[in-house]
Amino acid sequence: MKLGVNLDHIATLRQVRGGVDPSPLKAAEICLALGADYIVMHLRKDRRHIQETDLKKLAKIAREKIHLEMSVTKEMIDFATSLKCGSVCLVPEFPNELTTSGGLKLNKRNLLPITRAIKSLHNAGIKVSLFISPEPSDLRAAKRLEADIVELCTKTYSEAKNEKARKAELERIEMATILAKELDLEVHAGHGLNYKNVEDIARINGMEALNIGHAIIARSVFRGLPQALLDMKLLIEAK
Ligand code: PXP
Repeated sequence: MKLGVNLDHIATLRQVRGGVDPSPLKAAEICLALGADYIVMHLRKDRRHIQETDLKKLAKIAREKIHLEMSVTKEMIDFATSLKCGSVCLVPEFPNELTTSGGLKLNKRNLLPITRAIKSLHNAGIKVSLFISPEPSDLRAAKRLEADIVELCTKTYSEAKNEKARKAELERIEMATILAKELDLEVHAGHGLNYKNVEDIARINGMEALNIGHAIIARSVFRGLPQALLDMKLLIEAK
């Protein structure tokens, strides 16, 4: 099981004062040295946390380890293709949302821009992930679009109000993982995963990587980033 550590909220903390601390680059160095498999950064349209300069600095030391989350816009595609990061995850993005609000809608209206984005990214040698709901129709659409990876959205799972709802969503993610493997897609999961809910997702057969941010950064405030990272690695690798 691979772990992608999302460092957006290191940058959130820096942005509230507009200075240079804490440094996402330093955080990335620590995470990679301690066994994070790659670094996730979401360059949002409003630049509320990660900035282009963060990604450019990280690219100088670990270009291939950058998993760039971004919306499907020309500005972002141009930036990613010039950065030549290892992989990109295409996500929906809405103004004023606190965090990504769910998976991409792979409907008729969105298919053309997503198809074009995937082509441009592939031409630049970048692997493409689509953040989607664990729905068979979305998985099949992702395959038709020639995505390399699907990241299954665990928002519904992590926000489940009771055990019955949590189990039902876990089963949906398990079934989606089976289908994704049949379709020969790499499978990731993420959104709202934390130290309490991650183990059941890490146990899913065929699940290959988990992308986790807020929980790790929140724990690092009290326990330090190295310990927060190691605690998470221990939980997901034991499965
Ligand atoms: N995966 C995707 C596609 C996301 O948009 C996010 C949030 O930026 C995450 C994973 C990480 O979510 P969290 O911060 O809740 O761990």
